[in-house]
Amino acid sequence: MPLLGGGHGQVSTHAAEVQDATPAPSDEVVLEVRDVKKYFPLTQGIVFKRTIGHVKAVDGVSFDLRKGETLGVVGESGCGKSTLGRLLMGLETPTDGSIKLLGREMAGLKQKEMRKLRRDIQIVLQDPYSSLDPRMTVGDIVGEPYDLHPDALEGGDRRKTVMDLLDLVGLNPDHINRYPHQFSGGQRQRIGIARALTLRPRVLVCDEPVSALDVSVQAQVVNLFERLQSEFGLAYVFIAHDLSVVRHISDRVMVMYLGKAVELGNEDEIYSGPTHPYTQALLSAVPLPDPRLKGRRDHIILQGDVPSPANPPSGCRFRTRCWQAEDVCAEEEPLLQIRDRSAHLSACHFAAERDVIHAVDEGQDA
Ligand SMILES: Nc1ncnc2c1ncn2[C@@H]1O[C@H](COP(=O)(O)OP(=O)(O)O)[C@@H](O)[C@H]1O
Ligand SMILES: [Mg+2]
Repeated sequence: MPLLGGGHGQVSTHAAEVQDATPAPSDEVVLEVRDVKKYFPLTQGIVFKRTIGHVKAVDGVSFDLRKGETLGVVGESGCGKSTLGRLLMGLETPTDGSIKLLGREMAGLKQKEMRKLRRDIQIVLQDPYSSLDPRMTVGDIVGEPYDLHPDALEGGDRRKTVMDLLDLVGLNPDHINRYPHQFSGGQRQRIGIARALTLRPRVLVCDEPVSALDVSVQAQVVNLFERLQSEFGLAYVFIAHDLSVVRHISDRVMVMYLGKAVELGNEDEIYSGPTHPYTQALLSAVPLPDPRLKGRRDHIILQGDVPSPANPPSGCRFRTRCWQAEDVCAEEEPLLQIRDRSAHLSACHFAAERDVIHAVDEGQDA
C-alpha cells in the first residue's frame, strides 16, 4: 500500500532540506483548465425571482497543472479563488469552459462517474474545524471516505490504514479515538490533510490551508505539504490571499483579480520581475521576514476599492485602481500573454518588469 511509511517525528524537517528533496514536476499534465467561467445569477424578488445580473466570480481562467507541481493562486478576498477551487473539485458546474482531470473532461459527467473521478482530486480547507464533525472520532473522520469508496481500501484493514495515515501526517496514531476538539489548530489541519489523502488522490486543492494558523505552525504545515508532495508526486493548487505564503511551496504562481488571471509565471518571474501592476502592488505589501529588506522595497498603495464582480470595469478590470492606466485600458481588454521582454504571461497593455523588493545580496532570498 503506497500510503504507508513516514513517522510523525519527521514533520519538523528543515524547510531547505525538504525543498532540495522535492523532485522537479514531470511533464504529465494532471489537470487541464481552459477558459473556465462561473457566473452566479443575481436575483431579485421573493416569490417570482428575476435574474437582474450575474456575479462573474471566475471569468475565463486557463492553466495546466503537472504531476508533482504546485500552482500558487493568489489574490484579494472575493477575486474568485474559492470558486475556482470548487470548480476544479466538480462541486460547482462551470458556466463555460473545460476542466480535464487526468485527461477526462469533468463537465457533463454522470453522478456515478463524477464520484469515481473525484477520488483523484481532494480539497483541504482553511478551517478544518468547521469541516470536521465534532461528534466523530478522528479515526471515523479520516476513514469516512471509505464508506463511499470501499474498493479504495484494497482489502486492507481500515483501522490500520487510518492509523498509518495519521502517522503519515505527523499525528500520533494512538489518538485515533480522540475528538477534533482535543487537538490544536495545526493538528486539526493535519487531520484535514489525512482525510484528503485517504483515497490517494493525484491532485489536492488547498484553499488557504494555513491562513488561520499561527505563523510558526504555518511553516510546519507547509513543510508537511512539501514532504507529501515529494513522497507521492501530488500536484497542488495552493490558494492564498498573500504572495508570501505561497512563495516557498509554489513552482508557478497565478495572480487573480476580479475573476481573471492577470499574471502567471514561475516563482522567480513573479517575485523578482513581476510585470503586472497588480502583482507589483501585492508584492509591495507582503510581510518581509528579513529586517534588512525593510526600506528596500517600493511602496505601492492601491487607490479605491475592488469593483463589484457583477459589474466589472470595461477593458482592463484593474484600470480603476491602476496608476498606469490610459485610454486604451478602458477600451481594450488586455489578454494574458507573453509581453515585453519578459518570458511569462501578463495581462497588461503596459507590462514591464519592476523590481519591487530590492535584494540585499546576490542570491539573497527575499
Ligand atoms: N454561491 C454563490 N452565489 C453567489 N455569489 C457567489 C457564490 N459564491 C461566491 N460568490 C461570489 O463570487 C465572488 C468570488 O468569491 P470567492 O470565490 O469566494 O472568492 P475568494 O475565495 O477569492 O475570496 C464573490 O463576489 C462572491 O461573493
Ligand atoms: Mg476563498
